[in-house]
Amino acid sequence: MKTVLMIGALIATLSSVVGGLAVVRNVYAEADFRGCDKFLSFVDKAGLTKTLKDPRENLTVFAPTDVAIAQLGSDVVKSLETNATFLKQLVSFHVAKGLQLVSVTGVFSTMAATVARVDVYTAPNVTTISGSEVLLADNAASNGMVHVLKRVMYPLPAGTALTYSSGNSFSMLFLALTKAGVTSLLKAPDLTLFAPTDHAFQRLPAGEFSELLGDIPRLTKVLQNHLVSGVVFSAYLKAKGGDILKTQNGHTLNVTVAGNGAILQVEGATVTSADINVNNGVVHVIDTVLMPSVSYRRYQDNEKPSFRVV
Ligand SMILES: *[C@@H]1O[C@H](CO)[C@@H](O)[C@H](O)[C@H]1NC(C)=O
Ligand SMILES: *[C@@H]1O[C@H](CO)[C@@H](O)[C@H](O)[C@H]1NC(C)=O
Ligand SMILES: *[C@@H]1O[C@H](CO)[C@@H](O)[C@H](O)[C@H]1NC(C)=O
Ligand SMILES: *[C@@H]1O[C@H](CO)[C@@H](O)[C@H](O)[C@H]1NC(C)=O
Repeated sequence: MKTVLMIGALIATLSSVVGGLAVVRNVYAEADFRGCDKFLSFVDKAGLTKTLKDPRENLTVFAPTDVAIAQLGSDVVKSLETNATFLKQLVSFHVAKGLQLVSVTGVFSTMAATVARVDVYTAPNVTTISGSEVLLADNAASNGMVHVLKRVMYPLPAGTALTYSSGNSFSMLFLALTKAGVTSLLKAPDLTLFAPTDHAFQRLPAGEFSELLGDIPRLTKVLQNHLVSGVVFSAYLKAKGGDILKTQNGHTLNVTVAGNGAILQVEGATVTSADINVNNGVVHVIDTVLMPSVSYRRYQDNEKPSFRVV
């Protein structure tokens, strides 16, 4: 038994001789070497240490740095401490079977019951794994590979953008989608949704929402104005310092970055919660409904100083 294990370890070591340099660290030790020991303490608690140290394994670990762990919200930390199921899910989401390279955009299976996605952006070069930026890719180990992440991959995707929009704070968005008969738009692959909350809809001029509900062609255009084909995470937008995104109704959205990179705005609306992972892309929550620029201009015309009673 011992001999078998030793031969196994020897084969694993030999098979990972990369470019003439023998790699001796397993993925656990490699993540430790790369300064991800806080993540490893969660690995320990989740009972996955043995797996990550197993020389017969062939795993890819997406290891968030200690800084990334320190940036987790207190609610997430509390769940990690008190909910073993959640802990295991979150850690497993950061581990994949086999060698998962991060050089090509696509989805891959994780050890959690959900897929993760790689998005490779150019100009500037940014690679994200389910929205979390890769800091140091392709660290070869004796039983796999480690990619170091800037942020914890959270939240785990739970359904599509439509599933997310059927949640509590989006009842008006969901009503509008249903009324316009375009719920299927939110089930399409590879999309970015800017999701206005109920509060955002309530901030429309009085009567505007019910007027929209009665004008399906216009309502459809307004809804499409919140949808972008392609998955655009904030890491890319921030690295680029903003971008012009094309919506599904052919308009554009001017995304800007403010507050030293802390605040993301889209056509003046503030992104109050960025990078919500969904199975078919990403959702960014916004505080204002994004009216297509045509009707937006109409409002501005109405507000010309010459019309104002001073
Ligand atoms: C624990 O986490 C699981 C998985 O995320 C979740 O379904 C469950 O509701 C959580 N339990 C509690 C008590 O929060
Ligand atoms: C690890 O898995 C990859 C597939 O993801 C495979 O190509 C490779 O040969 C495996 N390596 C070992 C040592 O089993
Ligand atoms: C981005 O990646 C491309 C292709 O890999 C490379 O040619 C280019 O130099 C990179 N740019 C920067 C700023 O790293
Ligand atoms: C986008 O908004 C920024 C900030 O308001 C502005 O400087 C920039 O000119 C706008 N870009 C376009 C193409 O409208």
